[in-house]
Amino acid sequence: MITIQHLRKEYKTLVAVDDLCLHLEEGDIFGFIGPNGAGKTTTIKMLATLLRPTSGTATIAGFDIVREPEAVRAVIGYMPDFFGVYDDIKVWEYLDFFAAAYKIPTERRHHVVQDVLELTDLTGKRDAYVEELSRGMKQRLCLAKTLVHDPKVLLLDEPASGLDPRARIEIKELLKELKSMGKTILISSHILPELADFCNKIGIIEKGKLVISGGVQEIMRQVRGGRVLLVRVLDEPDRAIELLETMEGILSASVDEVHSAIRIEFAGDETAQHALLRRLIENGVRVQSFDEVQTDLEEIFMKVTRGIVS
Ligand SMILES: Nc1ncnc2c1ncn2[C@@H]1O[C@H](COP(=O)(O)OP(=O)(O)OP(=O)(O)O)[C@@H](O)[C@H]1O
Ligand SMILES: [Mg+2]
Repeated sequence: MITIQHLRKEYKTLVAVDDLCLHLEEGDIFGFIGPNGAGKTTTIKMLATLLRPTSGTATIAGFDIVREPEAVRAVIGYMPDFFGVYDDIKVWEYLDFFAAAYKIPTERRHHVVQDVLELTDLTGKRDAYVEELSRGMKQRLCLAKTLVHDPKVLLLDEPASGLDPRARIEIKELLKELKSMGKTILISSHILPELADFCNKIGIIEKGKLVISGGVQEIMRQVRGGRVLLVRVLDEPDRAIELLETMEGILSASVDEVHSAIRIEFAGDETAQHALLRRLIENGVRVQSFDEVQTDLEEIFMKVTRGIVS
């Protein structure tokens, strides 16, 4: 759905985006993570056809962002990082205005506005003035605006920035709903755990370069050099560790006090993981639970940006 090829943007002497390549399938939810000034907004603006790349290009739903910007605009919904100021305009008028700009016929507009208001939980604010909305509501309204033409692809630049925890959760719920509608979403953030539970892919950008990208679990493995397993046993953890140390693919095994479990760094694949559990049980270890530790994006981010992964 999105293919980025060697995308580059220079501002005078500064290279804001450098040789960026990325491929996203339909339905992918891609978390675009990076510190301030990394080049997230610049990349998203190029994809949204608002900024011309210095070189390289990208296609969205098969349309080229440089050669076919109009066609690209019809299939994307872009949410900028800053919400513009709109005086003397009501919520429904604001949405109606954008629906008209997307050439949605007058007779359908009423319906469309109602639908997006409902989706973003703003029905009660239909007749309020935009400037009277709270920040969280404005953010939701901005998201509603990006949805009026039912785009296949959403480009969201930090949709949850500056929101309180509750408003964050609301935005997150909304994003999950959009995900279930089959949209392809590229979402930027520097708040990592926020993206963890609904992104299937992530990429980390630093100083204009995509330092790492791929499936969340894959990246985790790459960064850690293996997967981490937590095994709880009813008794004799030391004996279990001794046994583990004789097995193949074990990078380390030790007692994890925090989880009161054995923490194993493991280099094997799914089949090897299964074999590991079987051997423990066959050797009389009383396994109570056996878990693969889920990704901690924060940890990935710190490692990647500290240059641990090259
Ligand atoms: N219009 C511009 N002219 C010159 N330099 C710019 C311009 N816009 C951005 N930059 C520079 O390009 C780099 C990337 O900026 P960008 O806004 O893309 O970062 P970002 O990852 O979105 O950061 P943030 O997390 O703060 O939003 C920064 O060094 C920034 O100073
Ligand atoms: Mg930005």
